[in-house]
Amino acid sequence: MNVIEALHARVSVRAFLDQPIPAATLQTIFASAQQAPSNCNTQPWQTYVVSGAKREELKQRLLALVTSGAEPNPDFDWKVYYEAEHKVRQYGAANALYSAIGIERQDRQARQQAMIRNWEFFDAPHVVFFTMEKYLNIMGAVDTGIYAQSLALLLTEHGLGCCMQGALGQYPDPIRELLDIPPSRGVLFGMSIGYPDPDAIVNRARTEREELGNAVTFVD
Ligand SMILES: Cc1cc2nc3c(=O)[nH]c(=O)nc-3n(C[C@H](O)[C@H](O)[C@H](O)COP(=O)(O)O)c2cc1C
Repeated sequence: MNVIEALHARVSVRAFLDQPIPAATLQTIFASAQQAPSNCNTQPWQTYVVSGAKREELKQRLLALVTSGAEPNPDFDWKVYYEAEHKVRQYGAANALYSAIGIERQDRQARQQAMIRNWEFFDAPHVVFFTMEKYLNIMGAVDTGIYAQSLALLLTEHGLGCCMQGALGQYPDPIRELLDIPPSRGVLFGMSIGYPDPDAIVNRARTEREELGNAVTFVD
């Protein structure tokens, strides 16, 4: 699989087989992702790959917190109210997802249930948390995003799937506690990873991309 093929094959996967990724494969993928570039080569990402009993415990703690009605308290300023074309694309992505799984736009309860799946890690056998020192701010976030996409392409090349999840940065306290993350560091976002379930309808959701001319200006 070449880079173009991997870019097109990667889509957000939200249903996984009950099959862990071999430890050696995880090692290979995460070792290659270390090649991601970063500002001044600072490599700010401090990544946790959580599996097995710890993953289950974390899931239970996150679910308890989220369903208690607690307010999100992210370590970083995630809150953004999309406007204009961004809002249109946001709705487009939500529509692609909810129509794939047959949820009506007005069915708030069903949408809420679908949202909760984030903290169940979509039943993926492994969940990744991207953390970094809080003071690094926007540059650290840029670097970590580039790293995460490198990881996503590597996973795709290995026949694996992932879903990047801002939702996993919304309630950092149980994550910090269970993974013993120092207070100076924040949880930026997460990613569920595993073998995609080929029969799951949720994995048929497809999003669109803007025309090149509306996104890129070639100047000479
Ligand atoms: C930083 C980031 C955060 C995201 N957070 C979530 C999330 O919390 N839950 C979710 O289901 N998808 C999440 N997504 C997936 C996006 O909705 C998805 O990438 C987008 O709609 C494009 O679809 P595609 O990944 O299938 O190409 C996130 C993606 C990124 C890059």
